[in-house]
Amino acid sequence: MTSSPNLTFNDGNAIPQLGYGVWQVEDNVAEKVVRQAFEAGYRHIDTAKIYGNEAGVGRAIASSGLSREELFITTKLWNSDQGFDSTLKAFDESLDRLGLETLDLYLIHWLQPKQDKFVDTWKALIELQKQGKVKSIGVSNFTVEGLQRIIEETGVVPAINQIELHPFFNQAELRSFGAANGILTQAWSPLGQGGELLGDPAIAQIAAKHGATPAQVVIAWHLAIGNVVIPKSVTESRIQENFAALNVTLDEADIAAINDLDRGAEGRIGPNPAVSDFA
Ligand SMILES: NC(=O)c1ccc[n+]([C@@H]2O[C@H](COP(=O)([O-])OP(=O)(O)OC[C@H]3O[C@@H](n4cnc5c(N)ncnc54)[C@H](OP(=O)(O)O)[C@@H]3O)[C@@H](O)[C@H]2O)c1
Repeated sequence: MTSSPNLTFNDGNAIPQLGYGVWQVEDNVAEKVVRQAFEAGYRHIDTAKIYGNEAGVGRAIASSGLSREELFITTKLWNSDQGFDSTLKAFDESLDRLGLETLDLYLIHWLQPKQDKFVDTWKALIELQKQGKVKSIGVSNFTVEGLQRIIEETGVVPAINQIELHPFFNQAELRSFGAANGILTQAWSPLGQGGELLGDPAIAQIAAKHGATPAQVVIAWHLAIGNVVIPKSVTESRIQENFAALNVTLDEADIAAINDLDRGAEGRIGPNPAVSDFA
């Protein structure tokens, strides 16, 4: 069976480059679809406390028959839990829901600049990693300024920054800051949430050339430019289709044509982390 290549973090640990995301998956559906993802070949699962499905993901892990060492599990700290002590507590609760003894990757879900607790929160993640409860630590929805601040104040560089990233919003600045500073970039909503992007004529043309689907071409682009990528689907055929994107190899011209689809800030679908502030 095909397996995802790994990328290596600045702490020496490895992450499967293609994973499976479970935002907007009900807890009672999560067990079934995560099992389908394991059967398709995924070993890396991306959840979060706020998704309300850590327990369902945990049930899928427990019943999978796969060993813990084969799996890479990420969850995220929700905004209302930011702060040093509250982070330590929220982490233990997430781990309990997942039914795990250690986590592979813990992320601060949003920067929340107005709340301004992200430095203390980052210090708690550093502590959790020191205690061996989590192998790698990172952030999500951080700006260059937010990354600089946690690095300057703690000396610890996050392993990864998980951000909105797809061909209409390709985040060149954050990707190059990450590359220059040893921070991997992980793409959320990598398929543009399955909307207009998958009907784009340039994507369709490249898909026809490779005998692939539009979603496979978009995932292959993420892999080619070095992103960690976590497409979501609750449809078994798409779960399999997306994993099979590992077999699609784009050429330089394809990659350049997809890079040209960037719309800058207009391409953004979700909230802007530099200003978003929600509990
Ligand atoms: N850190 C953050 O703040 C943050 C924010 C958003 C997302 N995320 C993470 O990123 C993951 C992925 O992002 P996302 O869920 O927003 O969007 P996405 O993966 O870009 O797109 C998911 C949508 O595309 C559809 N789809 C999937 N595969 C398809 C295919 N092969 N052909 C056609 N349509 C397809 C899905 O439909 P069906 O499910 O109906 O098949 C679903 O509607 C999330 O699940 C989550 O883990 C993180």
